Amino acid sequence: MRLPILFCIILLMTDVGNCQDPCYNPPFCNMIPVPGPPGMPGLNGIPGIKGEPGLQGPPGLQGPPGPRGLQGPPGVPGLSREAPEGKPGPEGPPGPRGPVGQMGPRGTPGAAGPTGFPGQPGIPGLPGVSKIGPPGPKGPQGPPGVTGPAGPQGPPGEPGVSCSCPDIKAIQDRLTKLDMAINYSFVRKVGQKYFVSNMERNPFETAVEFCSQRGLELALPQNEEENNALIEVFKDPYTEAWIAVNKKKAEGNFALDMNNQTLTFTKWETGQPDTSIQDAGCTMVSEKGFWKVNKECFLNAFIVCQI
Ligand SMILES: *[C@@H]1O[C@H](CO)[C@@H](O)[C@H](O)[C@H]1NC(C)=O
Ligand SMILES: *[C@@H]1O[C@H](CO)[C@@H](O)[C@H](O)[C@H]1NC(C)=O
Repeated sequence: MRLPILFCIILLMTDVGNCQDPCYNPPFCNMIPVPGPPGMPGLNGIPGIKGEPGLQGPPGLQGPPGPRGLQGPPGVPGLSREAPEGKPGPEGPPGPRGPVGQMGPRGTPGAAGPTGFPGQPGIPGLPGVSKIGPPGPKGPQGPPGVTGPAGPQGPPGEPGVSCSCPDIKAIQDRLTKLDMAINYSFVRKVGQKYFVSNMERNPFETAVEFCSQRGLELALPQNEEENNALIEVFKDPYTEAWIAVNKKKAEGNFALDMNNQTLTFTKWETGQPDTSIQDAGCTMVSEKGFWKVNKECFLNAFIVCQI
């Protein structure tokens, strides 16, 4: 860089020297000098002399600390007397555990702890002194025991003696009749016979049905006493009750009962049985206990059964 600048300065000085005298070269003096074409670049000059060393630069930034040096030798022991007493050093680490000290005085009792587990049952105590107390109250009756096996057959009994015991079956029959009889609102007993009724009034066939459904028969008085008992069922103003006389004229002309048995007792009203009845008629006990045959079997009369 420096070389081109130096070369240019030399070239400039040369040109100025040639044109300082205008008439140095007459044919050309009056001519206005015209700069020629630039010449070829000159050769490189001789390298310049090495310059003086520059001023010392500012100190660089402090580098990182170097490695730790070796430990130096121990210093000479100082004079202890003259030096002021140093400050106490920092507290050292705790020393080793000392030996067990003597037992201290008994502390105050602590708070009661939680309830412990129950202990083992104790060993049985010695038998008590056997002094018999008064007997306790009577205990409840125990359940009946199991039935024991049958005992051996006893010896034959003594020969029986004849006795006039009443017929058990007859008593049972009478009780059975009585049981049935007390079921009705109207009951009359005459001899061995009961007349029963619920005081209902219906046609003849209904009356027959009512009695047979209960295992009974339609009433049929067989003597004056029964006839009088039967009419006690009357209740004003109703004074008629159906009786079991065969209803078909052809089957005996009202001389048979409903089992085709001949009537052993009758109490026909005057003019009865009604001869005008051709086919069938139903018989009833009427006022004062007199019998009469009625064509109108659908009339309502008391239902009385006999047991
Ligand atoms: C009495 O009557 C009731 C109903 O009326 C009947 O159920 C019962 O069997 C009767 N008892 C007898 C003994 O006839
Ligand atoms: C009564 O006799 C007639 C004719 O002889 C017969 O048809 C009828 O079934 C008999 N009645 C009874 C209850 O035996």
